[in-house]
Amino acid sequence: MSLELKQQVAAEALRYVENDMILGVGTGSTVNCFIDALGNSGRVLEGAVSSSDESTKRLKALGIPVLDANSAGPLSLYIDGADEIDPHLRLIKGGGGALTREKIIAEASERFICIADASKQVDVLGRFPLPVEVIPMARSLVARAMVKLGGQPLWREDCVTDNGNWILDVHNLDIIDPIKMEHDINQIPGVVTVGLFARRPADVALIAGRNGIEVVNAE
Ligand code: A5P
Repeated sequence: MSLELKQQVAAEALRYVENDMILGVGTGSTVNCFIDALGNSGRVLEGAVSSSDESTKRLKALGIPVLDANSAGPLSLYIDGADEIDPHLRLIKGGGGALTREKIIAEASERFICIADASKQVDVLGRFPLPVEVIPMARSLVARAMVKLGGQPLWREDCVTDNGNWILDVHNLDIIDPIKMEHDINQIPGVVTVGLFARRPADVALIAGRNGIEVVNAE
């Protein structure tokens, strides 16, 4: 996705942001463009709840207050990117390693707007390796369980999450029933979060393409 497309979709997302709101903010290069646009927009937020240390740093550098999720209460709006998007706006997320905090904010938000480009759209999720955040002690146990599900787990060895955990990227899964797979993986002891956002999908996707921004609602 080119920087230009990221900036276009970021600018479009700004239209949903109102003064004085507490905004949920995701993580990734598309969201970085959104944070930059927010900083230049003149909007004055009560604050943001951030899904990663990286986004927190960027928000604070622009003078946007970052609030604790525990004191912010329910959020009206969450803006975040995705690694894959299906026609029901179910997502794979976590390529940037922030899946757990992203899932907490998505759950806490009344409206989740996903910003991406058309290359992220798929009919069936699973081409992008599915991130699973695990407590370090459970890495091998969870990896064996992923093999039983038909996947090929790879340990993201250079990554420690903001929560002090590790990530397995699970390749070659055919995610025919994302809600069931999300539930099943979440039951494995030692799994903190699976990067499937199916039980709580996005509400709207803003998709940047050659012909501008498409507003996609779930099928
Ligand atoms: C972060 O953990 C991810 O969920 C991101 O939302 C996702 O990787 C999208 O990132 P880009 O905007 O950099 O593609």
